[in-house]
Parts: sequence; structure tokens; C-alpha cells
Amino acid sequence: MTKRFPDSFLWGTATAAHQVEGGNTASDFWLMESVPESLFAEPSGDACDHYHRYPQDLALLKGLGFAAYRFSVEWARIEPEEGFFSRAALDHYRRMIAEARAIEIVPIVSFHHFTAPVWFTRDGGWTEPKSVDRFAHYCERAGRALGDLVAYACTINEANIPIMISASRMANEQRPWSPPKNFTEIARRCGGDANRWAPYLVCDGYAATPQLIAAHRKGCEALKSAGLTCPVGITLALLDMQAEEGGEALRDAAQQVIEGQFLESVRGDDFVGVQTYTRIRFGPKGHLPPPMDAERTQMGYEFYPEALEATIRKAARMSGCPVLVTENGIGAEDDSRRIAFTRRALEGVLAAIGDGVDVRGYIHWSLLDNFEWLEGYRPKFGLVAVDRATQARRPKPSAYWLGDIAKNNALE
Ligand code: GCO
Repeated sequence: MTKRFPDSFLWGTATAAHQVEGGNTASDFWLMESVPESLFAEPSGDACDHYHRYPQDLALLKGLGFAAYRFSVEWARIEPEEGFFSRAALDHYRRMIAEARAIEIVPIVSFHHFTAPVWFTRDGGWTEPKSVDRFAHYCERAGRALGDLVAYACTINEANIPIMISASRMANEQRPWSPPKNFTEIARRCGGDANRWAPYLVCDGYAATPQLIAAHRKGCEALKSAGLTCPVGITLALLDMQAEEGGEALRDAAQQVIEGQFLESVRGDDFVGVQTYTRIRFGPKGHLPPPMDAERTQMGYEFYPEALEATIRKAARMSGCPVLVTENGIGAEDDSRRIAFTRRALEGVLAAIGDGVDVRGYIHWSLLDNFEWLEGYRPKFGLVAVDRATQARRPKPSAYWLGDIAKNNALE
């Protein structure tokens, strides 16, 4: 049986600058990747050289049948020193977004996707109150240079991930934030103080959260005052948080801290970006591991594509905003598991739409096999494989499969 999606439903794939561009040398992560005892499995290096190969990658995406591309512009390239805005970097991104427009790909642009300039992270990152104005200033300048071409703008990618990581550390290890050992060497190299160095994925998420929520608000205003007329929103990492008997209170408390306060803060926004990979279960004593017989993904997550439907419904209910699925996917070496996962996830999208939930599109993570942060290049999230020695691209069966669904706007 064929099930159709709404007429204007947007189909796309996603990447993020640091994970695919390569050579992001003014960023905090580049520095962290290069010190001894790095927290990263390997450095990002040339990544997929997307910085130079974006025209071919956009053409590939288009040829597969997708209509939209979500990617990020890199703050560390645009403002490598505080107050210095690189005309060359802004021109680069302007050419890239214009190229997407030229081949009729809808550009969905994130202004912050985890990485930041070294100067920002050296001075406390998001734990520093000045971060709110710093981010808004960057949004205003980047918005003025690029905004007329952007179709959807995302201020901050997964603004709740720092607190999600901190809360899970508290739950699992009963241990609050303390800087990892190698921050001393990082601080030495950039002339900072280890206690101030606060990168996105490795900082005190409780301390960063008030600024992240405020920065999204101020970033939206800055983008709109820079002339953006397109929808502007945030994206959030959402989990299907399920409670076994007796786990309800713990689940509700965790959900409010990790998701609820963010979803409530974006009421009235043009959309909310939902990014979902799995579920988590709570028992009376806290997190429960996946069931013994559950399939695991390369990230160690439970294979649980039904989580997407649950998080779409939760995001719509708690924020009141239209939903754009800005990320969903699976780390899998076996590409047939990607197809199985995505099919079940899309069934869930259809079920939510059938019940009247306003879902505007589905953007799959990711176009390319890319740099999966601390895990390095091992997890394979791409619809397209990348040979990192030659930079050759090879679409996997899942790329053709999902591209056909996109073209037909229907699930067989
Ligand atoms: C995140 C990011 C992506 C990841 C993806 C797969 O959720 O961490 O937005 O950068 O690569 O989610 O883990």
C-alpha cells in the first residue's frame, strides 16, 4: 500500500560544517583533536573536503531526488578572532547557498553546530554570560551577508545536548562537571585557563543552559533584524523517554530538565527542529539498559526507530510549533539496517501527520559518512560512502531508496 505525505512536505539530508568540510583550523574542536590524550578517537583532518567539493555534493543530492539540504555555516571561519568577520568566509557560504538555490535545493542553514572559534571557548564558551551577545552579533553579521538566500534558519543545533550529557553523567556516575586532564595542555596552547575552557560537548551543561536559551532568542531577533524573512527556529536532541512501572517520576523530572524547559522556551517560534535517534527507559532507580535481546546501532544505541513518532508528538505538544525533522538516522555499517530503520521511522511520521500533527519535512542524517565527533570516522551515518583517501563518493542502496521516496513523496 502506498502512503502519501502532504504536498509541500520537504525531503532532505543534513551535514554540519566541522563534520564534513575539513581543515576547520580556527575552531575549538580542531585544537582539542590535536593534543596528546585527545578525547577524540581521531582528528577530523580533511573530513570529506566538502568545503571544496560542495558543488558536486549538492549535485549528487539533487540527482538522488532530494529537495532540501541542511548544513551549517562555521562560526570559527566567519569570526576567527572576536570582532573580525571574514569577508572571504562569508563569500564562500554565499556562493554555496546560491549554488543550492541555482539547482533548486532548499537551503536549511544552521548558524551553530557544536564548534566555535577558539577565542569564544577559551573565554568560557556558553557558560560565560557574554556568550549571548557574542552569538547575536555573529548572527547579525552572518544574517546580513547570507540571509536573503536562506530558506530555513536554525540558530543553535541541539541547544539541549550539553545539559543532556551533564545530566546523564550525574545519573550514571553521580559526578558533577570537572575539566578533563588534557584541558591543561589545551589551555596552554591557546593561552587560556583550563577551568575556563568550555567546549560545547564537554562543558558544564547546567551552567551553559541559561545562555543557550537566551542566545537562541537573541539570535532569532538578530537574524530577523538582519533581514531574514524565512522561518527561524532551534533544533533539539530529543529522546523517546519511556517509564517502566515506578520510573515515571524520574522520567518526568529528567524530561523537564533535558527537553521541557527548551520546548517551552521556543513557544511562538516559526518551527522546532526535532532530532531523534533512539529511546531511553527509566525504572524506579534510574536509566535502564536496552533490553537484552535488543539490536544496537554502531553508537551503542538501541535500534528503535519508533522513537521519532513519539518525539515529534512531544515536541509539537510542548512547544506548540510546527515540526521539521531536522535529523534522524542510524550509525550502521550494514546499509540494509538504515533502510529498515528509516522505513519504520517514516511510518511514525505518517502516523503523527495522520493525527493532525503539523510536520513540515524529514531531513535525514546524513548525506555523507562523516566525522562523528568523539567517535571519529567509525560510525557510518551516511547515505553516501566516502573514500577518505580519494574523496570518491559512492551512494549506498539507502540513498537511492530514500531518494525515490522523496521523489514520489510517498512510502510504498
Ligand atoms: C548530533 C548532531 C550530529 C551527529 C548526529 C549523529 O546529534 O550529535 O547534530 O552532528 O553527527 O546526531 O550522532
